[in-house]
Amino acid sequence: MKKHVTAAVIAIALLGGLSAYIYMLSNNKITFGYNVGYQPTQPIPFSHKLHSGQMGVDCKFCHTGVASTRHASVPSLNVCMNCHNNLAITDASGNESPHITKLKEAYNNNKPIEWQKVNLLPDHVKFNHAPHTLAGKQCNECHGPIETMAEVYQWSSLSMGFCVNCHRKPENNAPLNCSTCHY
Ligand code: HEC
Ligand code: HEC
Ligand code: HEC
Ligand code: HEC
Ligand code: HEC
Repeated sequence: MKKHVTAAVIAIALLGGLSAYIYMLSNNKITFGYNVGYQPTQPIPFSHKLHSGQMGVDCKFCHTGVASTRHASVPSLNVCMNCHNNLAITDASGNESPHITKLKEAYNNNKPIEWQKVNLLPDHVKFNHAPHTLAGKQCNECHGPIETMAEVYQWSSLSMGFCVNCHRKPENNAPLNCSTCHY
């Protein structure tokens, strides 16, 4: 008797949980993992699909810090202006693209574009791009197929499990002690 009651309670709890989960998923209240899929609206719709995928500009041309510093870094506008200074992007009636106008105005007034951060670890976690790049880890192992993204989104969970699972692989020979990744 008791067993049946317990089983029924568990079944109801599971069903309730499942339907709440489906409700939240279908209403975009949660995504898988932590912030997987997080995609803030950027001030200028910069497309990696176009610049990296179609034009083949190397990641390191813009993200210059990947092999030497903690931060990959987002490029300053003079990197963009290498090309956009002398590149007319107009619509059929000859009007300049409003995004390019915004880019040039910011550049000429020495104002940065306020790019919104996509991937963000909590403050208690240490991360550094340099050792990963030097160990031959590729951008897509953590960021996914960026060169197909018209707008960047967070591809991996950036959970502790995500980091530790890779550090644990024998071929990586990466440290696992807590102080490697925590302050
Ligand atoms: C022409 C310059 C340029 C090139 C080339 C480029 N990026 Fe970016 N990248 C940017 C800019 C600008 C941003 C900030 C705006 C945004 O998030 O879309 C950015 C953002 C990112 C972000 C998100 C940063 C965050 O806030 O978490 C990742 C990850 C990234 N790039 C990876 C790559 C990879 C991998 C490649 C090569 C396949 C690449 N980028 C090539 C300019 C570039
Ligand atoms: C081992 C995983 C990993 C690899 C490999 C990796 N990244 Fe990242 N990247 C991250 C994490 C984690 C963050 C968020 C860091 C934070 O919040 O401090 C990040 C942040 C970024 C950012 C935002 C600015 C910054 O530096 O915080 C850019 C741009 C970026 N990565 C580009 C790249 C590019 C380009 C490559 C390949 C050359 C690359 N990443 C390789 C994990 C990785
Ligand atoms: C290697 C040269 C090059 C660099 C560097 C470059 N771009 Fe571009 N960009 C282009 C080309 C080429 C196009 C497409 C032109 C076309 O569609 O005719 C383009 C298109 C664009 C567009 C689309 C405009 C529209 O409305 O169609 C935006 C926005 C843009 N770039 C922003 C940026 C930003 C921001 C940076 C710096 C982070 C940057 N670009 C760096 C060459 C470059
Ligand atoms: C794709 C595999 C992979 C992933 C994912 C990964 N790492 Fe690593 N990590 C490595 C490798 C390989 C090294 C370099 C080991 C060496 O050469 O010493 C490393 C080194 C490090 C180091 C430097 C250790 C030292 O003191 O030299 C830190 C810190 C670190 N990782 C933190 C993180 C964090 C935090 C994450 C998750 C956000 C993460 N890693 C995700 C493979 C990975
Ligand atoms: C390879 C990197 C890495 C190692 C090694 C690591 N952590 Fe973490 N840890 C993370 C990351 C990234 C997060 C943040 C994401 C998350 O909460 O899952 C985290 C989160 C945590 C949290 C959750 C904090 C919160 O705000 O909820 C605790 C507790 C924690 N770690 C303890 C440990 C302990 C104890 C060890 C050693 C046995 C350890 N970690 C080793 C990367 C690491």
